[in-house]
Amino acid sequence: MPRSATLAARSGQFKIGGEIEVNRLGFGAMRITGRGIWGQPDDKAEALRVLKRLPELGVNFIDTAESYGPRVSEELIREALYPYDGLLIATKGGLTRGGPDVWGQDGRPEKLIADAKGSLKRLGVEQHKLWQLHRIDSKVPANEQFDAVKSLIDQGVIRHAGLSEVSVVQIEAASKVFPVATVQNLYNLASRQSEDVLTYCEANNIAFIPWYPLAAGDLAKSGGVLDTIAKAKGAAPSQIALAWVLKRSPVMLPIPGTGKVKHLEENTGAAAIELSDEEFAALEKAGR
Ligand SMILES: NC(=O)c1ccc[n+]([C@@H]2O[C@H](COP(=O)([O-])OP(=O)(O)OC[C@H]3O[C@@H](n4cnc5c(N)ncnc54)[C@H](OP(=O)(O)O)[C@@H]3O)[C@@H](O)[C@H]2O)c1
Repeated sequence: MPRSATLAARSGQFKIGGEIEVNRLGFGAMRITGRGIWGQPDDKAEALRVLKRLPELGVNFIDTAESYGPRVSEELIREALYPYDGLLIATKGGLTRGGPDVWGQDGRPEKLIADAKGSLKRLGVEQHKLWQLHRIDSKVPANEQFDAVKSLIDQGVIRHAGLSEVSVVQIEAASKVFPVATVQNLYNLASRQSEDVLTYCEANNIAFIPWYPLAAGDLAKSGGVLDTIAKAKGAAPSQIALAWVLKRSPVMLPIPGTGKVKHLEENTGAAAIELSDEEFAALEKAGR
């Protein structure tokens, strides 16, 4: 095994649903599709190289969704990584796509069940270790959506279930129907509106998966608030942004997304960066 195979492990571990252990620094597979998260990527060979590099870097938690591509992200993951030895492929359902950058919601139980079963076939697995409701659709009673998730658990289609873009009140309502293992909300150094949700997740041992951890690359640019500390540590700004979310909480599982091997390698390097309490506080102040 190359030494890099242990790199992501340096971010620490978390047991999803108290059961499935992953390295905390994961990967978001939304950016391996075409522009507007639509269709095939411009450079399919590079997208496959990114995916194949994940286990070599020790990244064993991969986030995807039926709607990424749509379906293209899951198909590429299967092409590159099946049978997923030691990997947790977490997918999502409940969205619709009308074209590049066009997203809709459909939380009808039949759609959620069809999405989860379709993802099983595409990924070639018998059970999703983790499946997440991409959005609670406001056009459908929330309990109907939660009941659909519960039925997927009861049927064995899903082992653990999670939610995305939710409030504490919504997590509590869902928890009455099924155990909520993960919550995936927008969160990064500069976007902190989900602090109350993070606090709730910490208290209830729910994994908090901050999506957009690099603010779509804005936090990776030089000349930004992260530059001074990045330069002092000989690190890239993206690595500092990721090291900050990792230090923020032990339940934090960031999933930076990229379609480029170079960026993946750089981002995974964040697992080895230790911020002092002073650096953490300075970044927090700058982010606010
Ligand atoms: N639950 C939800 O509703 C939801 C919503 C959005 C996303 N997600 C998930 O969260 C993941 C992460 O979110 P995200 O992809 O929107 O945002 P992100 O990880 O903050 O940023 C990704 C963007 O940053 C660029 N980037 C990545 N690493 C870089 C680096 N080292 N240097 C410079 N630029 C870099 C990427 O471009 P390149 O490809 O050029 O590297 C990409 O455009 C997604 O992949 C997806 O799995 C979930």
